[in-house]
Amino acid sequence: MEFIEVIKSRQSIRNFLDKPIPENILGEIFEAGRLAPSAQNRQCWQYIAVNDKQIIKALALKSGMIGKVNFFIKDAPLILIATANPKDSIVMNNQHYYLVDVAISFQQMMLTAWNYGIGSCWLAAFNESKVREILNIPKDIKIIALSPFGYPKKKNIYTSAVSLFAKSSKRKTLEKIIHWNQW
Ligand SMILES: Cc1cc2nc3c(=O)[nH]c(=O)nc-3n(C[C@H](O)[C@H](O)[C@H](O)COP(=O)(O)O)c2cc1C
Repeated sequence: MEFIEVIKSRQSIRNFLDKPIPENILGEIFEAGRLAPSAQNRQCWQYIAVNDKQIIKALALKSGMIGKVNFFIKDAPLILIATANPKDSIVMNNQHYYLVDVAISFQQMMLTAWNYGIGSCWLAAFNESKVREILNIPKDIKIIALSPFGYPKKKNIYTSAVSLFAKSSKRKTLEKIIHWNQW
């Protein structure tokens, strides 16, 4: 795909075919995360790649912030959990750059995946202590996001409702977000 087409066509995917991601494509996705820019080039990100069906099932059943809100990840062949140790990054102007660094790296992975027809969905609404327990993540490591990765399947009623609720196709106009020269 043309780069701009990747950006324009990407959308959050919440339904997945039971089809594994080829190893070479997975390598490209990981590489895109690895090559991301970061504050002082600290590269504070660390990912847990889950392809074990039992662990995916446990995450699908138990990782939701409210009930089984993340149950839709159950069919994905891969879940990536983006984490960082804040001590491996920097704080400037009271901004914690580990969040920025991981967001850039994870988004690079998501866009690369989309370029190969693989969908993902950034998940912030997760139960932190459950995810920590299931994946045995040490206390000093921050869990920033989860995302399923897989080939898209047609939306069902639940996932259509989520997109509708989030008004997912709507974006603010450029006039509302770009300030030329001064605020
Ligand atoms: C920081 C962040 C947190 C999000 N958390 C969730 C989430 O917990 N559950 C979910 O289904 N989608 C989540 N999303 C996906 C958004 O709902 C989605 O990106 C937005 O509605 C725009 O839709 P699109 O990605 O299809 O363009 C999150 C996205 C971001 C960037």
